[in-house]
This record gives sequence, structure tokens and C-alpha cells, in this order.
Amino acid sequence: MKPIISVRGLDKTYSGGFNALKGIDLDIQRGEIFALLGPNGAGKTTLISIICGIVNPGQGNVTVNGYDIQRDYRHARREIGLVPQEIATDSFESVLGAIQFSRGLFGKPPNPAYLEKILRQLSLWEKRDNKIVTLSGGMKRRLMIAKALSHEPSVLFLDEPTAGVDVELRQDMWGMVRGLRDSGVTVILTTHYIEEAEEMADRVGVINRGELVLVEDKKTLMQKMGEKELSLQLPTPLETIPDSLSDLPLRLNGDGSELIYRFDIKSENTGITEFLRRLTSANIEFRDLYTRESSLEEIFVNLVHSAQHQGEEQLSGEAQ
Ligand SMILES: Nc1ncnc2c1ncn2[C@@H]1O[C@H](COP(=O)(O)OP(=O)(O)OP(=O)(O)O)[C@@H](O)[C@H]1O
Ligand SMILES: [Mg+2]
Repeated sequence: MKPIISVRGLDKTYSGGFNALKGIDLDIQRGEIFALLGPNGAGKTTLISIICGIVNPGQGNVTVNGYDIQRDYRHARREIGLVPQEIATDSFESVLGAIQFSRGLFGKPPNPAYLEKILRQLSLWEKRDNKIVTLSGGMKRRLMIAKALSHEPSVLFLDEPTAGVDVELRQDMWGMVRGLRDSGVTVILTTHYIEEAEEMADRVGVINRGELVLVEDKKTLMQKMGEKELSLQLPTPLETIPDSLSDLPLRLNGDGSELIYRFDIKSENTGITEFLRRLTSANIEFRDLYTRESSLEEIFVNLVHSAQHQGEEQLSGEAQ
């Protein structure tokens, strides 16, 4: 199937001369949840804003459902619902009035049943006659989503959807986003909460300093980049790692009562047997052991960290 969004060679330099995006190539598949991760200022909002036609692209091409965002702006824009990062919602309009109005802006005929469905899905139906100023913060965020969905877009962009949202509401929103995906909507979200990407995304893109350093299936990414740790609980804490073990990937935690051995999931020989044998030779006892996989967060931090310290080219080479 053809991707629903296709970005080719996208470059953006803001008028002040800042080069915010550098040669972005990206395809978004129909019906997936795609998470765009990256530190502050990486270019996430810039990328989304260009695809949504809010910021002018510099060089490159973007199509949405086959429509070129510049040549065929209106068609492209109708395919898209956007929940922006900065939301302004101090309006005296009613909830229902606001989403009817948004729908109208796209030239769509009224469809009360559809609007009722999305308000119910977002638990806002009870509040439909409330003025927006009277909603709680979380409700306002959900209203922004309802507005973005009001014209039945095929792609929904959520720019930091759960920033400042409490844990419970975050869970609700995740459920809602999955529901949207199940109903055929493609979802692209940016987030600082890596657990959000880990929990939700089918694929993950990491952007750093305007470059897309990696795009990968989430599961593959976690397998490919993942490391495991074997943690040993020591009855007698160690002050330092003995010289006889200094060539091993070991570290001590806390007061020295936890010894951690790092190994690579993909490697055929994890070296664990050898490690345990040498531990015995060194007369180090342990009373318990367990393994732990690295989270997407650690993978992400490593990626961004190494991009900053080793130079981006090398990293994007490794990632392919
Ligand atoms: N209108 C603008 N004029 C000049 N520079 C801009 C403009 N908008 C954004 N930038 C710069 O472009 C870079 C990318 O900004 P962008 O908002 O895309 O980052 P982001 O990844 O969304 O960050 P955050 O996680 O903080 O939302 C930043 O260095 C920012 O200062
Ligand atoms: Mg942003």
C-alpha cells in the first residue's frame, strides 16, 4: 500500500537563518501510530507544521494521501487533523458549537451523529453545552482533539498530546488514540514521554538537531538496540570491582551490594556462563540474580547522546 504521508528531501531554514530540518525523508503508513521522539528544539513541531501547511517548507516535497501540500494545499489540508502543541482555549463558545464551527471551516456538511460519536468517545458529550472556559485543563485538551477530528480527517497529528496531563487521563488518551487507529485513522504523535512511544507506537522516528537519525519498527528497535542487564545481589557489598574482573562490562550500584553485568541480546554468546565462573573464582557470592531489558528510554538517550558526541553521520550509518 502507498504511504499516506510521504516526505522527500525536506529542508527548512527559518528566516533568521536557523536550519531546523535537514534532508528529511519519511513515509508514514496508512493506519499506523507513529511516534516522533526528540529533545527540545529537535524539529518535531517544525516537521509537523510543514506537513500541515502552517509553516512553509524550504526545499523538498510532501504529499498527504497523494496530494502535494503546496500544489494541492486544500485537498492535503482536508486529510489532516492537527492538535497543536500550544493550545489556546479560553473561549466563551460552547463545546458543540466549537466543533461544529471547525467542521464548517473545512466546508463539510453538518453531521450531528458523527460529532456526537467523537464527543462521546472523548467523554465530552455531557459537557457539550458548556462554555469552553468552564472546562478543566484535561477536558480542554480532549476538546482540541475533538476539534481536530471534526472534519473526519484520515491523519491525526498530536503534538505533545499528554504534556501536563495526569497519569489517568494519559491512559484514557492512549486508549482513545488506539480506538482511532482501529477506526482507520493514521496517528502521528510527538512526545517527550518515551513510555508513551513504548506503549503506543507501531513505529518510532528519532529526530535530533533537524535530522531524522532513525526510523524503525518499535519492536525491532527494542530488540536491535536493546541491551540486557544481569543484576546480582551481593550479601557482602564490594567497594570496587576486583582487578581480576576489570575486563568485564561490570558496574556497582548503590552501596556496592548490587553488581551489574551488561550484555547484548543479539549476541550469540552473552558471556554469562564465563562471568559466573569467574565470579566464583574471585570468591564473590551472590544471593539473588535477575535480568532486565533496556527500555526505549535508555535506547533513546543513548541514541541522542551518541549523536551529540560522535557526530551524526556515523550514527545514521549504524542505524541503517
Ligand atoms: N519561527 C521560527 N523562527 C526561527 N526559528 C524557529 C522558529 N520556530 C522554531 N524555530 C527553531 O527551530 C528549532 C526546532 O524547533 P521545533 O519547535 O520544531 O522543535 P521541537 O522538536 O518541536 O521542540 P519541543 O520538544 O521543545 O517542542 C528550534 O531551534 C527553534 O528555536
Ligand atoms: Mg515542539
